[in-house]
Amino acid sequence: MNTQFKQETFRDDYTYTNSAEAIRRFPFPFAEDEYMYSVNIEMHGEGTGAAGSVFEHGIDVDEHYIAECEDRRIVLDEDPDRYTALPHMMDAQWDMVELMMDSLSKDYPEHFQLQKDGDNWHWVNKPLGIDQTFVFGDEATLPMQPFEYISRQVQGDWIILDQRDDDLFADMGMVTSQADWSMAFDAGMSFKEWHGPVPQANEIGIFDRALKYLLHLQYGSPVRRLNWTMTINPRLDTSPENYPFWGPDNASVTPENVGDKVYLRVELQALFRLPRSNAIAFSVRGYLISLNELITYPRWGKRLHRVLKQLHPDLSEYKGLDNYRQTVIDFLAPLDDGADLGLGT
Ligand code: HEM
Repeated sequence: MNTQFKQETFRDDYTYTNSAEAIRRFPFPFAEDEYMYSVNIEMHGEGTGAAGSVFEHGIDVDEHYIAECEDRRIVLDEDPDRYTALPHMMDAQWDMVELMMDSLSKDYPEHFQLQKDGDNWHWVNKPLGIDQTFVFGDEATLPMQPFEYISRQVQGDWIILDQRDDDLFADMGMVTSQADWSMAFDAGMSFKEWHGPVPQANEIGIFDRALKYLLHLQYGSPVRRLNWTMTINPRLDTSPENYPFWGPDNASVTPENVGDKVYLRVELQALFRLPRSNAIAFSVRGYLISLNELITYPRWGKRLHRVLKQLHPDLSEYKGLDNYRQTVIDFLAPLDDGADLGLGT
């Protein structure tokens, strides 16, 4: 991979953009003209995605890597509680160090290097200028808690679930770029509790089936699903804590600015069983694309038009689209000739 990491911002002047290559590999989530929640889980990791796609590796690193890590640093400086780890999660912290360092150094050796001499590890992260030796398993040899240390060096949010009593509990997390939910609020909650606000899904049995599936997730066989929402401006931190900074933007969309201001936000959510702790790592990697970038693929513009037109009102409200959904539909309508798009993205 020959990635040019970009200098860009996800706040204030919002200089974030996608290169032609990033648009080409964008994980457009709609394979049909209609959308409803489903248990859309498939295999993830080596061999499950085309070369160059966001599915090629377990953890995707792209042109936004440095800028996203910097945005995370800004959030943590303002609000250190976006990182949470309950005391019984220390084995899981080391599991995460291993998962992330192994994965990045294997998949992107030109950027990340890891040498292991027994428990003496040497980690080099070239894009962020980090060179660290430490003793695996000895917290005192890292500058901060192990999971905080390594999760500051990957893109996307990570929630680590402890498995007990046939349920999953959100007992650790690095969450700085979430779509309007709060780790501090959900910490310690169970699978069905934190999914409480989601409309429609419980009624059609989605959470029962998903939980049953996840409780049997095997080490070495990660899975993934896609989720999506929309957001105004390329803002990563749309947390409830910072609602005053981004909430009012929802009312700022006009027919003139809609193509630039409205972004489709797709979350690549992957789940990995962890070997020591038997916990599950849940990653939520967000990809943002403006409508003007998206319609450079006319098929995507047509598809999104149809999905938004038929979207269940409960989902539209829950995803926070009500203020501007019609403006987006009107923007996309002239681009949709009604042709049959078949199945697939
Ligand atoms: C939404 C967490 C796995 C389906 C959410 C929300 C959270 C969350 C915090 C937002 C709820 C709110 O509004 O407060 C997690 C965690 C998971 C997980 C930690 C790891 C085990 C799954 C799985 C499914 C699923 C496996 C499979 C069907 C959904 C759906 C939504 C949702 C459909 C609504 C999303 C939207 O419309 O934007 N999840 N989830 N989740 N989750 Fe999960």
